[in-house]
Amino acid sequence: MPGDLAVGIHDLSIATTRYVLTHETLAARNGTDIAKYHEGIGQRSMSVPAVDEDIVTMAAAAAAPIIDRHGAEGIRTLFFATESSVDQSKAAGVHVQALLGLPSAVRVVELKQACYAGTAALQSAVGLIHRDPAQRVLVIAADVSKYELDSPGEATQGAAAVAMLVSADPALVRLENPSGVFTADVMDFWRPNYRTTALVEGRDSISAYLRAVEGAWTDYTEQGGRKVNDFDAFCYHQPFTKMARKAHRHLLAFCGYDADDSEISRALRHTTAYNTLVGNSYTVSMYLGLASLLDNAGELSDKAIAFFSYGSGSVAEFFGGTVVPGYRAHLRSGAHRDAISRRVPIDYARYREIHEYEFPDDGGDYPVPIENDGPYRLTGLFGHKRVYETRPARSRNG
Ligand code: COA
Repeated sequence: MPGDLAVGIHDLSIATTRYVLTHETLAARNGTDIAKYHEGIGQRSMSVPAVDEDIVTMAAAAAAPIIDRHGAEGIRTLFFATESSVDQSKAAGVHVQALLGLPSAVRVVELKQACYAGTAALQSAVGLIHRDPAQRVLVIAADVSKYELDSPGEATQGAAAVAMLVSADPALVRLENPSGVFTADVMDFWRPNYRTTALVEGRDSISAYLRAVEGAWTDYTEQGGRKVNDFDAFCYHQPFTKMARKAHRHLLAFCGYDADDSEISRALRHTTAYNTLVGNSYTVSMYLGLASLLDNAGELSDKAIAFFSYGSGSVAEFFGGTVVPGYRAHLRSGAHRDAISRRVPIDYARYREIHEYEFPDDGGDYPVPIENDGPYRLTGLFGHKRVYETRPARSRNG
């Protein structure tokens, strides 16, 4: 295995939904003081999928610009990370392979461990490239975060997808060894197979997350990782953006530093800009934070970025990466901002209607109306089969 081979993220593209619900709309409906949402949890709005959108359409929309730019040559693996699976058996990535017209000589698999699975996919991709540096791996994460109406979790919903091309000699971020890993069997957040909405013990999930910060960081240092001061920015998993602030304060305190608010803001500011508008995107969320950082921060060449990935249940990983000089020429900042800003605001009644919509399970034919204006759509459920299509005028976010 080549020891000094640089492997990491060569390209990164995000997609989100057609609709958006603002926290002002939610607060007006449930009587919550808007400051609780804006300041207390750090959220302004959340992406809501149209009835013809799901993890597959968002994933394909995120990945298509990558295939447009780089072609499919050398991609022999597609990892699809999600906890919003549309099928118990078939990997959602197989639909994406078809929608993108990828060759048949590709292995496709779906990975799950709550919000952590995107990182499992990324690290597995790094391993495959060390085995054969000529290969590239398409890593996609896509999720729809859905909690019960009128529950505390309702304000921390959202949806997005991220696609990353992982390769040797990457253009954006070189991923580093070691990783610090941590697993603890806790029931802080889960979704039994018979439920469409997640269950969460809100305050417990915050404590479990913070224990995982300590555990993963401890392992990272024991494995010979960097010092906490070596990092210029910190990308945390963000079920809500305030969680990143809690986590960073906790990490610094654990390392013996008493950080003030301005130092926390400096380390996190650019990593939360997209998440505060998109909401919780589960396994996408840390990578949405990375996109937000690269797109919105000043020059980051050669700077070290820390990543903390957490999936309830729970599995966590802390690792570092270095931004590659010249990375700015490869960003998709305009397309990313556009994907977020062109969402159509919906009122509470429409949001509730979408939230409550479920396909009947009788095997009938259930087409859905055309709502999303993205390049791919779910046409409906026909004889228990989800059917997808590419829109005639495919408008990718290039
Ligand atoms: N102005 C400003 N801040 C306010 C406020 C107001 N009027 N009212 C409340 N707040 C603050 C609270 O002090 C609290 O901040 P703190 O945690 O720093 O103390 C924050 O807003 C949330 O208030 P809380 O009473 O805890 O809200 P809640 O009972 O509605 O629950 C969550 C909030 C985040 C716990 C809940 O939305 C949830 O469980 N979401 C899911 C989280 C998740 O996905 N976890 C699993 C993955 S990690």
